[in-house]
Amino acid sequence: MVNQDFVPKQKAQEIENGEVSWQAPSNIALVKYWGKKENQIPANPSISFTLNDCRTTTRLSYSKKESPSDSGNFDFSFYFEGKPKEDFKPKIQSFFERIQQYCPYLKDFSFEIHSENSFPHSSGIASSASGMSALALCVMEIEKKMYPDMNPDFFNQKASFLARLGSGSACRSIDGGLVVWGEHEKIENSSDLFGVSYPYEVHDIFKTYRDTILLVDKGEKQVSSSVGHGLMHGHPFAESRFEQAHKNLQRLIPVLKNGNLEEFIKIVESEALSLHAMMMSSEPYFILMKPNTLEIINKIWSFREEMKVPVCFTLDAGANVHVLYPQDYESKVLEFINNELVAYCQNEQYICDRVGKGARQLTIKN
Ligand code: PMV
Repeated sequence: MVNQDFVPKQKAQEIENGEVSWQAPSNIALVKYWGKKENQIPANPSISFTLNDCRTTTRLSYSKKESPSDSGNFDFSFYFEGKPKEDFKPKIQSFFERIQQYCPYLKDFSFEIHSENSFPHSSGIASSASGMSALALCVMEIEKKMYPDMNPDFFNQKASFLARLGSGSACRSIDGGLVVWGEHEKIENSSDLFGVSYPYEVHDIFKTYRDTILLVDKGEKQVSSSVGHGLMHGHPFAESRFEQAHKNLQRLIPVLKNGNLEEFIKIVESEALSLHAMMMSSEPYFILMKPNTLEIINKIWSFREEMKVPVCFTLDAGANVHVLYPQDYESKVLEFINNELVAYCQNEQYICDRVGKGARQLTIKN
């Protein structure tokens, strides 16, 4: 597939007004995307677990305008958790600008967007992945009304393609399970343009994996991920980092099949620390981990060693710690978290999540 394949070519059916709704989950990367080229093309391939409980629900109502918007602005209002939210609008405006060439009908409508998250507000958990994928799915739902013969694979592929243009990692939040984004020579049909379901055999242990997210710091990040991606241009270790990501993804293929947790842990933790090592060696350098992030990592290492429980951590671009473990160890790990780790969380807060099945459409009640 190439960009042009996402530009509608047939004549659309006329539609007037209506409402659509989708719910999309967040995801947690095992091999990290950090660094991009123009148009949200990733500098290296990545793979993530789609989550289940951290979700955004978006409702999009549309009504056909007498004449299309002719200025650069799209006609929409945005409500977050029931209240108008002006500061989100520039993000959505620029999302619409980026996807307009693939969705030329956008200027023919006025939209009302209502969005809410299942996870606590300002928990430090990025909502861009679930938020952008839910919105992209709603846009596709409208497009499907104009092109009713659209095939479901194309629907998902284009939703992921559009979500990527909103926020890179959002393209991994459409399908469930394991999703790969970015071309990798050993992964068939992998693409820089959209996420694809991991196409090879996956051991049962990974199908019900747990992710308990420890909320270490709920504040605004000092450096946004878009600035962080930008700092990979001219980064002294960029090329070796991109190569490392390719290698780690390749190393994961047999591990995902045979369920070798020792090897899984080595790859996942190395990826998390390499991501943060890139931040610490950028120019300017920065640190997103907090002292409690390190306390937690050390506690996890001791617990794993002493109790022989295959639990590990990963990190996003922030201070929160994702604790990953097989379902069978849930009670042991939750006990450990309650006894030893909650003390390092802001207000003792954490969120229990797990691998999920991907985004789902909601029926509109009239
Ligand atoms: O999608 P963005 O631009 O917010 O970047 C996310 C990058 C990481 O979360 C750090 C890694 C990843 O692959 O999700």
